[in-house]
Amino acid sequence: MKRRKFIKKTALGTAALGLLGGMYTWKVEPFWLEFVKKKMPIQNLPKELVGKTLMQISDIHVGNRFDYQYIIDSFKKAQKFNPDFVVYTGDYVHYENKEQYKQLNEVLKHIVKGKLGTVGILGNHDYGKEWMEQDVADKISNQLENSGVKVLINEATEIEGLNIMGIDDFWSLNFDHKKALKNYDKSKANLVLCHNPDVCDLEGWNNYQGWILSGHTHGGQCKPPFLPPPMLPVKNKRYTSGKIDLNDGRTLYINRAIGHLWQVRFNVRPEVTIFKLEKA
Ligand SMILES: [Fe+2]
Repeated sequence: MKRRKFIKKTALGTAALGLLGGMYTWKVEPFWLEFVKKKMPIQNLPKELVGKTLMQISDIHVGNRFDYQYIIDSFKKAQKFNPDFVVYTGDYVHYENKEQYKQLNEVLKHIVKGKLGTVGILGNHDYGKEWMEQDVADKISNQLENSGVKVLINEATEIEGLNIMGIDDFWSLNFDHKKALKNYDKSKANLVLCHNPDVCDLEGWNNYQGWILSGHTHGGQCKPPFLPPPMLPVKNKRYTSGKIDLNDGRTLYINRAIGHLWQVRFNVRPEVTIFKLEKA
């Protein structure tokens, strides 16, 4: 009798724990945003930019997979940091149909902008179904531009002496990292935006030295403690999240994303990164 009671209690306890864990993974962690602060040493940084902040926001994934009021609320929290630069590293929507344009417009009313500049690149989801729809990418780019985000399609822009090169998405119709890096000038203060970190392993970086900001992986969204996440949409499984030294003068930073593909996160909280610029 005693043993049977014990087994029953253990089973009930395990079920309750499982339920709690499930609720946490579904309802709590996906919306538990973390502002991660990092230093970003840049070669040739003009002295006027020393100490300025650069905020990275990635993968907002506006659509029907989760309540995007969370993105609006997160933007409101991010505004309070009053960043000097804001960079968006792609995947603005979870594209299903034209409804996402309306939803994105709603969110873009609250967009976080930098005092000095706001720049973005596109991700695979911004290219619609199978990443093949140019008209979807054009529409999303227009919406971003109208909201004050300069969208870089394999091109560069210089703001207050910081040269930002934006690579269009790896899986998209227009991917051309060589074009984006063609005019790379080592004597400038440079930064690269690249949605998918797998691009780092390709040839054609024109001896680029400096930081590369990526998104795309969402950090894997769920990860057992002390182990790598089991699901990552990249070939190079080293590219999970955080700062990775590529050992050739390039430093990769992969943001864990603010939104998600599925409303589940465990041990991989959503992230907005705030870099403080310094001279390398
Ligand atoms: Fe994404």
